[in-house]
Amino acid sequence: TKMPQKIIIDTDPGQDDALAILLALASPEIEVLGITAAAGNVPVALTSKNIRKVCELAGRTDVKVFAGCEGPMEGSLFTAEYVHGATGMDGADLPEPGMPLQPQHGVDFIIETLMTHEPGTVTICTLGPMTNLGTALAREPAIAARIQQIVLMGGGLFEGGNVTPAAEFNIFVDPKAAKICFGCGAPIVMMPLDVTHQTLTTAKRVAAIKALGTPLADAVVGWLEFFERFDEQKYGTDGGPLHDPNVIAYLLKPELYEGRFCNVEIETDSALTKGMTVADWWGVTTRPKNATFMRHVDADGFYALLTERLARLPAKG
Ligand code: BDR
Ligand code: CA
Repeated sequence: TKMPQKIIIDTDPGQDDALAILLALASPEIEVLGITAAAGNVPVALTSKNIRKVCELAGRTDVKVFAGCEGPMEGSLFTAEYVHGATGMDGADLPEPGMPLQPQHGVDFIIETLMTHEPGTVTICTLGPMTNLGTALAREPAIAARIQQIVLMGGGLFEGGNVTPAAEFNIFVDPKAAKICFGCGAPIVMMPLDVTHQTLTTAKRVAAIKALGTPLADAVVGWLEFFERFDEQKYGTDGGPLHDPNVIAYLLKPELYEGRFCNVEIETDSALTKGMTVADWWGVTTRPKNATFMRHVDADGFYALLTERLARLPAKG
């Protein structure tokens, strides 16, 4: 991989999305070409504002931020205020953003970026429902062959689902978009619940971030504490899962992750299992392999990386 790695982040902040954005902006190995807002945890009017709050927290008012689609490719939007709070980023009080939203639509930005960069040089990171990328692929199928790789947070196999017994939130919200993405032929790396349920926000790990002692660290800790309240109750663990930063951590340190290249199909029809990522882990079908399904992470290594990078960001907050 050539350095720095060019990426587009498509995201629905979300406290864990916010941390993923901070991790990317703190890392010189990554060049963020733009950030597109997805509708997911909260509607796109809020996620597109939250992204800009996070960029400003990181001192990066130069980042291009685009609003994307307002709802899934099919059906109506299912949001998760019950997890993330009314703003989507409850837990830290950040000022209203001063930096602008770009006038271009996020889908057009994704298409234009892929069509104007050398094929195989731009990675798409999706941290929410895959609506923007799915829509871009439907509108301009020629982008598929130009994508370096899609790295996404979504799905689950051995851990099951978190919004229904079978489905993880990001895939559940827009299974049609996920199906288009998984079928597009671009290399795919998945960070499913199987991984993200291992990167728990334990008291010790949160304390290490708090010890950075900056207003930025305080905001991060506020988010983590708000976010984990819900999940600690649900899972009975010390801390809750931290999902989306795994996508960025993978780009920085792939050796933290272990998984298997296999076939993954998306269930779009069944009322019972809609949004399930049906991963052929054991190779019991001849369906073509299309995704690297991650299953294990070095969670301490992940938190060491995250904490070290957060320490590099400007201290303001
Ligand atoms: C995913 O759903 C959202 O609530 C989180 O931000 C993460 O992307 C976890 O299922
Ligand atoms: Ca998310």
